[in-house]
Amino acid sequence: MKAKTIYTCQNCAAQAPKWMGRCSECGQWNTLVEETYKEPSQSAQTPSGSREALSQALPQNNRPLAIHEINIDEARRSTTRMGELDRVLGGGIVPGSLVLLGGDPGIGKSTILMQGLSATPEKPILYVSGEESANQIKLRGKRLGVDSKNFLVFAETRLEEIIEAAQKLRPGILIIDSIQTIFSTSVTSAPGSVSQVRECTGRLMLLAKTLEIATFVVGHVTKEGSIAGPKVLEHMVDTVLYFESSDHSAYRILRAIKNRFGSTNEIGVFEMAEGGLREVQNPSELFLQERTIDAPGTAIVSAVEGSRPILVELQTLVSQSTLAMPRRTTLGIDQNKVALLVAVIEKRLGVPLYGHDIFAKVAGGIKLDEPATDLGIAAALLSSFKNRALDAKLLICGEVGLTGEVRRISQLDLRLSEAAKLGFQRAIVPQSGLDALAKANFRAKIEVTGVRSLDEAVKALDL
Ligand code: TYD
Ligand code: MG
Repeated sequence: MKAKTIYTCQNCAAQAPKWMGRCSECGQWNTLVEETYKEPSQSAQTPSGSREALSQALPQNNRPLAIHEINIDEARRSTTRMGELDRVLGGGIVPGSLVLLGGDPGIGKSTILMQGLSATPEKPILYVSGEESANQIKLRGKRLGVDSKNFLVFAETRLEEIIEAAQKLRPGILIIDSIQTIFSTSVTSAPGSVSQVRECTGRLMLLAKTLEIATFVVGHVTKEGSIAGPKVLEHMVDTVLYFESSDHSAYRILRAIKNRFGSTNEIGVFEMAEGGLREVQNPSELFLQERTIDAPGTAIVSAVEGSRPILVELQTLVSQSTLAMPRRTTLGIDQNKVALLVAVIEKRLGVPLYGHDIFAKVAGGIKLDEPATDLGIAAALLSSFKNRALDAKLLICGEVGLTGEVRRISQLDLRLSEAAKLGFQRAIVPQSGLDALAKANFRAKIEVTGVRSLDEAVKALDL
């Protein structure tokens, strides 16, 4: 074994042959850490689980294939115990895929993996924990009702041992909780450092692909880049999922950030309860549950997340300011978007919003970034300014341009049918795009008004 010294930036994983005070890639100070990497020499015997040993297991007669020769077997996906998890994965688990699950501590990463993934007689699950003891895992399993004899728990942090166990056991699913606690003896730096995380993930990837083990890797998100966050890993893995919640509520949203096997932007909604996570099948109902009817400043807008339309309540507060620089605070919506809409309202409608503090918030902790929510935000702002409530059974969607024009949005029919399903009676939508809806059957249930400009919308809304 030949030992080589390299310096690795703990922020961006750039490597340098010598130490520098500042990383030349990302410009961060004091992030370079000395690491020794042992390159296995030719004569050394290949330990099991090493890159060499695993690559020998790859098919030897590998060759370029014509694209029509390649068969995709969709049926090979297996489903989990949670429909919401399947949805975010793109329709179930793909054998041999490597999935990274990121999220803040305590959000429920261990819980969702333990509860959602199920063992079968032919395909056991190997749950490797570097964070908790077997006892702790058993206790959680009891709460979640996980009691299969094919669910194997392994409290281990040495990568080589984990790989050996997986090779012996041949599980269908391997869970690594978490990647920051696992270390390989071929890298001398501490567990959690960029080099360790990268090396371990690389080896797990090879294991996943050669033995067709669907591997789920938990990664912690850190505020500063001092510990290698999942950012470094995102490029390596097939799928990146984020588990998040806001406002410390019991609701959790699982989001696909990257997915080589399905669409991103799909979300799964869960609620953390006594016996683990509960799936929320109809998020619109959830997000509209606690709304106050007839409150000025609120509007219902529609967000399409992946293939799923969700209706959410948008709340705004426009009030006289005593500050020289009035406050503009937003939660869940881009501040610039609100600033832009405020400018359009002032200029095109002549409504004097300057001199007012403006707050805007999305209820339920969802994030709205679609242009389709523009018109709803504008209507909510005007409603608050005029202190006049909007109709409670009204959906507003449309993009607003700088000249005050209301533009066409995507998937209007999907949004309207969701609204009709939830008993909404009226919708204000962009005029363009309305004709395509002429025959859609929900138009019988919901009265749709098309508008061309902000001005027309204000008239239709009677604001
Ligand atoms: P956990 O899965 O350990 O989070 P992570 O792995 O992301 O750090 O879940 C942590 C929280 O979830 C913990 O504070 C307790 C709560 N919880 C419940 O409310 N109900 C349950 O059934 C379980 C298992 C956990
Ligand atoms: Mg955990």
